[in-house]
Amino acid sequence: MTDSPFRSDVLAGKVAFIAGGTSGINLGIAKRFAELGANVGILGRNPEKAAAACAEVAAASGQGDGSGKAVYRTADVRDYGAIRTAMEEVRGELGAFDIVISGAAGNFLSPVLGMSANAFRAVVDIDLIGTFNVFRGCHDLLNLPGASLIAITAGQAEHAMAMQAHACAAKAGINQLIRTLALEWGPDVRVNGISPGPIADTEGMARLAPDETTRAAHYARIAMKRWGTCFEIAEAAVYLSTSAGSYVTGAILDVDGGSSVGDASRLDTGKGLA
Ligand code: COA
Ligand code: NAP
Repeated sequence: MTDSPFRSDVLAGKVAFIAGGTSGINLGIAKRFAELGANVGILGRNPEKAAAACAEVAAASGQGDGSGKAVYRTADVRDYGAIRTAMEEVRGELGAFDIVISGAAGNFLSPVLGMSANAFRAVVDIDLIGTFNVFRGCHDLLNLPGASLIAITAGQAEHAMAMQAHACAAKAGINQLIRTLALEWGPDVRVNGISPGPIADTEGMARLAPDETTRAAHYARIAMKRWGTCFEIAEAAVYLSTSAGSYVTGAILDVDGGSSVGDASRLDTGKGLA
């Protein structure tokens, strides 16, 4: 295990539901939560992928002693009835949710003129409407007060990016949904976002930086001059879901090595900020 300041049982007895938890960053969060003692439910569309991911989560539980429960369901987050049923079933098996993560997303590079209305809608539906469905649908399944909801957003929410009109619009909507829910549900439920930078070995990176030129362009913008890891995003989720983050709500936490602060690429010229 990578070094961590968190106690190894900091999530013991907690229940977490993670939409989109069957791969990548969200699976990293699911495994980390399980390591730290949580019982974890994950959800994706593909049943084989979900079953394999669930086995990984179960193997990680209780620091690898398999003491926690891990379950999975398959549903499309665009379908409110399906996601609601899946969450009701997971609550029935694991108990009321202390933590809910909305991390399912779709993305591809395309200029607006290369997108049909359905292409734009597909990403907005998965990311934004999906997050509404997960958060709206989980409210009466939560362990109150003190529940923590986290949406996985992205830098495109605040910084427009060519070839990303759908993701920019969807993630910007998610950020405002996070803030609105933080206001409406404030006393009982904390609602926050995590905005990852470019994370190594993920589907998102493979799609947004498919060749060396685009990888170099992304890399140049990172102040810390390295890719992020799924573990680093998971640790941020642990922070927001434990007493460490007990007075944090409505926040969008950038975990991006400084990618969103500004443009660090001029440093690569070797001429500093001249
Ligand atoms: N460029 C332009 N349009 C594209 C496209 C691309 N690269 N890829 C898909 N589309 C269009 C499709 O042509 C379709 O539009 P149409 O009906 O007018 O032809 C529309 O997008 C929906 O595609 P479809 O494959 O039917 O949608 P889906 O719901 O099965 O899948 C996606 C959604 C397209 C986002 C798919 O890539 C996905 O499921 N991604 C999940 C994984 C992922 O993206 N991970 C990274 C997260 S950052
Ligand atoms: P990923 O591996 O593709 O994970 C996406 C997850 O969502 C999978 O579990 C996928 O499973 C599920 N999913 C997709 N569409 C779904 C739908 N319609 N209904 C239900 N589940 C669905 O992606 P990732 O790269 O790790 O990204 C995870 C999150 O981080 C996303 O929100 C992304 O926007 C954000 N992010 C990523 C990066 C990065 O560098 N990767 C940077 C910034 C933000 P199925 O395919 O089986 O449905």
